[in-house]
Amino acid sequence: MSAMETLIMIPGPTHVPPRVLAAMAKPMIGHRTDEYSAMHLACEARLKRIFRTDNPVLIFACSGTGGMEAAIVNTLSPGDKVLAVNCGNFGQRFGEIARRFGAEVDELAYTPGSSANPDDIAAKLAADGDIKAVLTTFNETSTGVTNDMAAIGAAVKEHDALLLVDAISGMAAIECQTDEWGLDVVVAGSQKAFMLPPGLAFVSVSDAAWSAVERSTLPKFYWDFRAMGDRAEEGQTAYTPAVSMIFALDTALSIIMEEGVDAFAARHGRMAAAVRAAIRALELRLFGDPAHASNTVTAVRGDGFDPDGMRKVMSEKYNVLLSGGQKELKGKIFRIGHMGAVTEREILTTISCLEAALTHVGVAIARGAGLAAAIEALAESP
Ligand SMILES: Cc1ncc(COP(=O)(O)O)c(C=O)c1O
Repeated sequence: MSAMETLIMIPGPTHVPPRVLAAMAKPMIGHRTDEYSAMHLACEARLKRIFRTDNPVLIFACSGTGGMEAAIVNTLSPGDKVLAVNCGNFGQRFGEIARRFGAEVDELAYTPGSSANPDDIAAKLAADGDIKAVLTTFNETSTGVTNDMAAIGAAVKEHDALLLVDAISGMAAIECQTDEWGLDVVVAGSQKAFMLPPGLAFVSVSDAAWSAVERSTLPKFYWDFRAMGDRAEEGQTAYTPAVSMIFALDTALSIIMEEGVDAFAARHGRMAAAVRAAIRALELRLFGDPAHASNTVTAVRGDGFDPDGMRKVMSEKYNVLLSGGQKELKGKIFRIGHMGAVTEREILTTISCLEAALTHVGVAIARGAGLAAAIEALAESP
């Protein structure tokens, strides 16, 4: 095994820049201090710019799933009807959380790789005026598909339902217009494009969602938005925040702001385009709806070869980490994560090693074609 750091090209956790790691090693401070409050408020202000929202963004110490659970328990009551849009593993999870808490879940399930059709959501809402909330995934990490949240938002706003969005693997990397698109609760996670370790969830809450919080009777304590919201304006959290992670967040947000919120997302578009060009040039098949291909994760079919065997070579021989398929896609696809700090160097290295690993496991490819296509795609949009 190489003594070099692993090139981590999975859809989270992602590479954590040394500046961010160093921030986590800072001496502890008291959380009920002006110093902490100022840092927290500065973080929230920048999160709002990334979410493109004027709504509060609450910061919870938990992984992304905790943020999803918080969205459910704060806005729903037992027996509430919800429409869960399932385009893959994470969409399925959102519906399952609602089901476990006693919601009546109508699932709109798509074949893995498909994107959600906003017309289907509109038709469901038109057919059942009792639906209280629509649960959606912005970027379905398990299949590499990004849903059209602008169109979904427009469809939902025609009705009196809340729109809860798992934006965990999309936020910051893919433009998300929270307010303009009418997204009520939006959840993001630290270990994705934010270049942080796992451990924080960011949750924006619209006015309509706050009204639903007042009506919601599902039990909650740690997740209670009201407890968090009460002290948010002072830069305080209800319970002890993950202070070292907030140090890290402060630094990671500075890095994003230095690049620029738009430029940060645009870079993800360029990196993703280069990966897709390389995959096509190698005559591998991209998995999922090409019109909705994700800019943070690319899923590739393992047609005619064992993708997990190939990934083992990537990891053991080249020290490059890729992801496999989840659940029914296990052994059928592999996934390349390209989010956060990923630059041209990481893309070109990954594609080179991918060509070598495919060759190693006996896949006949035009060697060099993927790299050439990636170089060309990157040169086209410098
Ligand atoms: C779209 C999406 N939703 C939810 C999750 C779950 O987040 P966590 O593993 O941080 O709980 C993930 C993690 O990969 C994800 O990509």
